[in-house]
Amino acid sequence: MNEIRIFSPATVANVSCGFDVLGFCLNTVGDEMVIRKTNKKGIHITKIEGFDLPYETELNVAGVSALAMYKTLEVEFGFEIEIYKKVKPGSGIGSSAASAVGSVFGMNELMGRPFNKTQLTEFAIKGEAIASKCEHADNLAPAIFGGFTLVKSIAPLEILEIPSPEDLYATIIHPQIEVKTSEARAILPKEVPLNDAIMQWANFGSLIHALHTSNYDLIKNSLHDVIVEPYRSQLIPYFNEVKNEALIAGSLGCGISGSGPSIFTLNKGIEMAKNVKVAMENIYSKTNIKYDIIVSKINKEGIKILKP
Ligand code: HSE
Repeated sequence: MNEIRIFSPATVANVSCGFDVLGFCLNTVGDEMVIRKTNKKGIHITKIEGFDLPYETELNVAGVSALAMYKTLEVEFGFEIEIYKKVKPGSGIGSSAASAVGSVFGMNELMGRPFNKTQLTEFAIKGEAIASKCEHADNLAPAIFGGFTLVKSIAPLEILEIPSPEDLYATIIHPQIEVKTSEARAILPKEVPLNDAIMQWANFGSLIHALHTSNYDLIKNSLHDVIVEPYRSQLIPYFNEVKNEALIAGSLGCGISGSGPSIFTLNKGIEMAKNVKVAMENIYSKTNIKYDIIVSKINKEGIKILKP
């Protein structure tokens, strides 16, 4: 096998109370990439469709993660990468992560899987870092492992797989405005009041417990973010209105997807997810802001090879 086509999924990071450590994987949106083994040494990006991204390997997220892996290899061959970008850069659903994991996953498969999933995440962190200007893995890990993942530690990298309740569906609206991750990080406070920290880790612990026990009431009771959302929600027009309507429509919880501007909800069952979709659309359809909206079951598989 010298060439494979892969699906590299979009992801939701933070999940309200899990800033920089928790994320989950989506199955209805993601990039496609072709990775090809070639006689020419090095990493070469040969095609990019969908969005205007750099072809220079050192400037491209997929190229940088591929190089991080390639530097550890002593091989006489190289790799070509084609990127069919479907996840809009800057959307808040792990666009750079999808690119960063796609190249290293594909290379690993073509070489007979010399690296494990945690090692793939390590390489991908290098690519993700050029997009968000810091090293974090909360979008990368769910794209590689699937389901919900908890990044217990970055150095050394330690990732825990968290079970996904069977009936959990995400509805995500993406208002077409730009929020740069670096800017959304720059507005965050450097210190957190102890009472807020207590609330946040209580919610985070109970969310993890709720996911393990498929306790939807407890998921609903835990999806709160008292630390990051109050700052970042100001960057997203109509965030509070969308959240109110989603919760009235029965959503388990609503928050900012990654660093925004996408807004995610978690819902019990597909019907609830569709009702929440209508409620969220009702807000943005009355504004002049364009939007995309998706409903997705939690993707337990993660990144995968597409059949030819
Ligand atoms: N945890 C990151 C953040 C995800 O919220 O800044 C975005 O890359």
